[in-house]
Amino acid sequence: MKIYLVGFMGSGKSSLGKRLARKLEYAFTDIDQMVEETAGMPVIEIFEKMGADAFRKMEKEALLSTAGRSKLVVATGGGTPCHFDNMDFILDNGVAVYLKMSPVSLAHRLEYAQKARPLVQNRKGEELLAWVSEKLAERESFYSRAHCIIKGETVKPDQVISLVFGS
Ligand code: S3P
Repeated sequence: MKIYLVGFMGSGKSSLGKRLARKLEYAFTDIDQMVEETAGMPVIEIFEKMGADAFRKMEKEALLSTAGRSKLVVATGGGTPCHFDNMDFILDNGVAVYLKMSPVSLAHRLEYAQKARPLVQNRKGEELLAWVSEKLAERESFYSRAHCIIKGETVKPDQVISLVFGS
């Protein structure tokens, strides 16, 4: 069994994923981290030095490398399900859980996040909110193909467990 967490940047995929994996006694992996290890540099530098297309290819490779694994929780990147046929792969290889959040919550979290994100780097306030709203609207059709959709603002690992395994 594999659980793929999908959703916009800032929706809490990595922090929930770690807690979920601990509860289930599964391994945890993060697609961004896998790419960073392969490239030997942070995501922000990959975008700057190699470009977005190169990042998307490496992201796809990282995703495909989860195929043979089991008892695994995967935090995907915000763009992972929205490129190539990645969402088909996710749906075929595990249970996909979408952490759905409003643009206002996402923009707020992104504004105060520690993590350096190339796509939101220079955006703040109203401009950030407008950008998040537009990008989320573009991506919603990918995310919402997930097997389960859950409210990201308040999600707890136990909720995901009962959704995925039934309670
Ligand atoms: C991206 C999301 C990021 C990272 C990259 C691009 C996106 O991952 O993969 O900065 O296109 O939404 P997180 O969702 O983990 O921040």
